[in-house]
Amino acid sequence: RIVHLADYRPTDFVLERVDLTFELDPTETKVEARLIFHRREGVDAKAPLVLDGDDLTMTSLLFDQIEMDPARYTATPESLVIRDLPESTPFEITVVTMINPEANTQLMGLYRSNGIYCTQCEAEGFRRITYFPDRPDVLAVYTINIIADKAANPLLLSNGNFLGGAGFGPDKHFAAWFDPHPKPSYLFALVAGDLGVVEDTFTTMSGREVALKIYVEHGKEPRAAYAMDALKRSMKWDEEVFGREYDLDIFMIVAVSDFNMGAMENKGLNIFNDKYVLADPETATDQDYANIEAIIAHEYFHNWTGNRITCRDWFQLCLKEGLTVYRDHEFSADMRSRSVKRIAEVRHLRSEQFPEDAGPLAHPVRPTTYREINNFYTTTVYEKGSEVTRMIATILGRDDFKKGIDLYFERHDGDASTVEDFIKCFEDASGRDLKQFSLWYHQAGTPQITVSSTYDASAKTLSLSLEQMIPATPGQSTKEPMHIPLRFALISENGSESTASAIAGGTVSGDVLHLTERAQTFTFAGIGSRPVVSLNRGFSAPVTLHFAQSNDDLIHIARHDSDLFARWQAITDISLPILTSAAKTAQAGGAIEVEPAFIDALLAVAADEALEPAFRAQALSLPSEADVARELGGNNDPDAIHAGRQAVLSAIAKAGTEVFRTLYAAHAANGAFSPDAAGAGKRALKNSALSFLSIAEDTPALAAAAYAKADNMTDLSQALTILAHRFPEADETKAALATFEARFAANPLVLDKWFTIQATIPGADALIRVKSLMQSANFAPTNPNRVRSLIGTFAFSNPTGFNRADGAGYAFYAEQILAIDPRNPQLAACLLTALRSWRLLEPVRAEHARKALESIAASDALSTDVRDIVERVLKG
Ligand code: ARG
Ligand code: ZN
Repeated sequence: RIVHLADYRPTDFVLERVDLTFELDPTETKVEARLIFHRREGVDAKAPLVLDGDDLTMTSLLFDQIEMDPARYTATPESLVIRDLPESTPFEITVVTMINPEANTQLMGLYRSNGIYCTQCEAEGFRRITYFPDRPDVLAVYTINIIADKAANPLLLSNGNFLGGAGFGPDKHFAAWFDPHPKPSYLFALVAGDLGVVEDTFTTMSGREVALKIYVEHGKEPRAAYAMDALKRSMKWDEEVFGREYDLDIFMIVAVSDFNMGAMENKGLNIFNDKYVLADPETATDQDYANIEAIIAHEYFHNWTGNRITCRDWFQLCLKEGLTVYRDHEFSADMRSRSVKRIAEVRHLRSEQFPEDAGPLAHPVRPTTYREINNFYTTTVYEKGSEVTRMIATILGRDDFKKGIDLYFERHDGDASTVEDFIKCFEDASGRDLKQFSLWYHQAGTPQITVSSTYDASAKTLSLSLEQMIPATPGQSTKEPMHIPLRFALISENGSESTASAIAGGTVSGDVLHLTERAQTFTFAGIGSRPVVSLNRGFSAPVTLHFAQSNDDLIHIARHDSDLFARWQAITDISLPILTSAAKTAQAGGAIEVEPAFIDALLAVAADEALEPAFRAQALSLPSEADVARELGGNNDPDAIHAGRQAVLSAIAKAGTEVFRTLYAAHAANGAFSPDAAGAGKRALKNSALSFLSIAEDTPALAAAAYAKADNMTDLSQALTILAHRFPEADETKAALATFEARFAANPLVLDKWFTIQATIPGADALIRVKSLMQSANFAPTNPNRVRSLIGTFAFSNPTGFNRADGAGYAFYAEQILAIDPRNPQLAACLLTALRSWRLLEPVRAEHARKALESIAASDALSTDVRDIVERVLKG
């Protein structure tokens, strides 16, 4: 069944209120739903009420409290259809369903994880709890009663404010919750069990005190302190920057260990993958801290962008996700170094979203059709959706963007809204026409922009010619030219910057050049000497530039641009061709030589004390093997890409030994640990130096020493990575892996790092390693975090290991997908996307990959999730 945006229409019946009573039991939970409806005005008096279900068993159905005549309804596990309903008066339906939380391995609906009852309802999990109009445009006020065994479940939580609770018979108790804010079913949540809590309060800008609670497993409370701090900073920031105040008396976060994604923004009761809550210096890396800060903020920000204003239908997913990612990016940029954060965002976009946009799973930010909505929680909807929001801010400028977003909050509070509604607010607030711009929501594919510049010394003009091409994507063979905002500067020989005065050929506002035609030449007058053009500064548009700038020009940008992002980009633009040509040389069996000028420029950045350490570490972290593969664009041999990149790293390491020694010595003494951005930056630079030194000296001794004296998880895991990836057979490595496992045996989240480090050791042996790690007592095939950290990272982050030339990696992976799918289709489908770029492989590997995909497609028991992905990936 395929869902089309064009088929949208409102429900026939209006849901007025919802009362749910849960009698919790691990295997037989009784759910009583009392739903009051009335027929929408103008709807045919004969139209039946159709409610969604998924795998449901109904035990009773009442109409206005009287048992319903079986002739009036049809109940299947997938739906409940009720006929002969009142023409206009409200009526009440009482449905009782029995569900089995313990057997719910899909982790959608109500399930049990480590003895904790919890829920995940987005997108369509609520229908696994009770029959319901399970769609985001049905908003209602909910009252929740929870009855459960008191000893096992001292805690009974749901959305909204606590109404009260008391005993319920000899061994049970109950709690009642009321959420005054109308919400769609996907924001419902329930948690019950025995957990520890960290408590705090936040006073809102209007002076209301909000109770803050973070629930974690007993004993883990100290590891929730950073999450609490991040939450309070998020609440404050949303008031200051977006004027958004929290709207309930209590805000709760619960950390659970079995969770399919990062976290969920249920009203007043966010549920998190514990990976994104728990942190302390001993167990969390700097990346973990940054992720926790970003995800706590993201889910909190959803309270306005997602909950107060929700989506009309799932095609509008980017309305809440793109906007909320934009908000969490801005938050992190304010909390940390804006430029370094931007570099990390762009790296992520290029490595995850660009391949999606260039492959068989490409889809618009606002799709028009889907077969399985779970497969649309993608980097395109989230990250490209965020970039599109950022471009609106770039085009409108700060003040008009603020007016537009304020208007959106004012006009649509309480609505189930659309992307068109959102754009209209910015048009109305700014008086600008965003019609062409809105193509960004509708056309898939990363725009390719070819740029050339000519300087005319006698006329004192600079001409910049741009041509945009948007590649064909599944279902979209031709594209219209888009409105692409490119920030730029003209950098003179002495490093001074200008945006130029007199311009012909197109619109330039401030430092933004607006490319709107398919081909356009901008002419800048009054330019006294040939400038270097710095284009797409700050990555103002999510495009690929093809701009044949000389290395001298790029080095000029890398040295002088006041935009640190542009400096990093220039370094990347120099290094990527070096890496692609090294890969080609390796493939042809030749000797790889690296231009000394490039190495010198890189080492100069590394040693430049005027630059922040985090930026220098980013510069030293060359484009990844996946980046090189993407740049090569076909007939890819992962072994050659790896060999070529290693040769370049070696050349840098050898030439820079002294620089790296100095850097390492300067940053080796840690001082007191702080998880802040400055501390993280120093550690990143130090560990980068350690990695190059280990290459240069070709000995595990340095990393082994660093491992022995590490006093935080970043240093410890970086040292272990160098040991395992560089010296997999060394005794030092075996010893370190063993001590790590023993030391963190009781901490699954830390063991995930141990799995990941080993799953990503390059080379053909990785497969044997992964298979034997799956036998480890600490591996749990049913836990999504374990599966992702071992099997997932093998496929996503070990190009040489996964893409073994004999195809054994793909065959193994196909078996794993088929084994996981019956238990957890969402997890299986998500893992399967690792094969989306199979057509870029050289023919032998591509053929093996195709066979593995076909072996999956041949199964007749696939979930819709996996069926949808495998068919699109094979077809594309
Ligand atoms: N809304 C959640 C978030 O981004 C994610 C929910 C994902 N749901 C899914 N079915 N994949 O914060
Ligand atoms: Zn979200």
